[in-house]
Amino acid sequence: MCSTQAPADAVLAELYEWHLALRAQFPIITGHPDVTYLDSAATAQKPQAVLDAVHAYLTTTNANAGRGTYTWANQTTALVRETGQRIKEFLHDPDPGQSGVHFVSGTTEGLRTVARDWLVTFLTDGDEIIVPFADHQANILPWLEARDLLAREGIRVLVRPMPYQPGSGDYDMAALDRLITERTRFVTVSHVHHVYGGDMNIHRIRRIVGPRVVICLDAAQSIGHLPVSTTELDVDFAVFSGHKTLALPGSGAIWARNARGPRFAPVGWSGSPNTTGIASLRAALDWLDAAGTDRIERWARALAARLTDGLRGLPAYEVLGCQRSLAADTEVQQRQGIVTFRHRAIDSGDLGFILFSHGFMVRSDSHCQGSAGEKQDSVRVSLHVYNTSEEIDQLLAVLATLE
Ligand code: ALA
Repeated sequence: MCSTQAPADAVLAELYEWHLALRAQFPIITGHPDVTYLDSAATAQKPQAVLDAVHAYLTTTNANAGRGTYTWANQTTALVRETGQRIKEFLHDPDPGQSGVHFVSGTTEGLRTVARDWLVTFLTDGDEIIVPFADHQANILPWLEARDLLAREGIRVLVRPMPYQPGSGDYDMAALDRLITERTRFVTVSHVHHVYGGDMNIHRIRRIVGPRVVICLDAAQSIGHLPVSTTELDVDFAVFSGHKTLALPGSGAIWARNARGPRFAPVGWSGSPNTTGIASLRAALDWLDAAGTDRIERWARALAARLTDGLRGLPAYEVLGCQRSLAADTEVQQRQGIVTFRHRAIDSGDLGFILFSHGFMVRSDSHCQGSAGEKQDSVRVSLHVYNTSEEIDQLLAVLATLE
């Protein structure tokens, strides 16, 4: 069972007024009282401040970046540069003078860029890397491609599967410890698991792998949902998608610390940068800071706890992952705002249709999970600051009718 810092009801009561004021800032939510959006891990809705920033950019200074010398071009170049600095600040960068930010279309392109433009220059014959095969495919396939690319050059790299604790979705720290060798150079991990919702407690990974191994963080489900400190986590790369961070689709970034291994220097900007997306990203980070990512985290976790508690009272349902960590030397894994479950008799695709007939928008498939994960489909509910405890109660009431 996953624990929460305080009883969910107390958190929901404490933050209720704060949440109401923020929910009112999402036009798509307030404009559609007939439906309930529960798919924020797939993409998050946008607050008015982000929509306004996009409109302001496109109606005042829209131009290409890094090219012209006229005012709008210079302002757009400054926007890109300043948003890079803003990302470093948002991520509590330990050494902003040394690190770099590279804009990409999202986490998938970002991880592939790290693999293609950096990992292949870092590894040598006989090196080992660790890959989480039960996480999102975007954090699996690029590393296998890098291995295959190197193999064609005669450089053999061993890919070791990250060990998991059975049934919990958590990484198995004791088994990971046994996996580390002198040749381990690189470990890639999820910050929050996109199916199980567990916070993967990344600071444990650094303790296990030691100071010289490079850690790449897939932060697609954490940045924008909880405070993320690259100083505290001591990671080398953090990659995320703007569209899950309240910004526009097609925006996203790689943050590279540049403290271990060669400097991250991807092969230039691939064409014109998505300056509108970058404008939206800066506005989204400002909005998130003002709202408080610590409170967003507490709110979503309290809603997730309410849902998991409710589901445990319904024997027809099985909640996946995020159980208490089994290894004695690890902390209890905390569930963030993602709850995935199955009905023991109803197909998950059908359950998704049934739920939508009641206005609930959920994801119901295998969630692009890697080959080591659950292969059966399931229903995923993913929460954000605009979701309410009433929505959770209404969802549970509908699920109870299918018992
Ligand atoms: N990667 C996104 C998800 O987990 C699309 O739904």
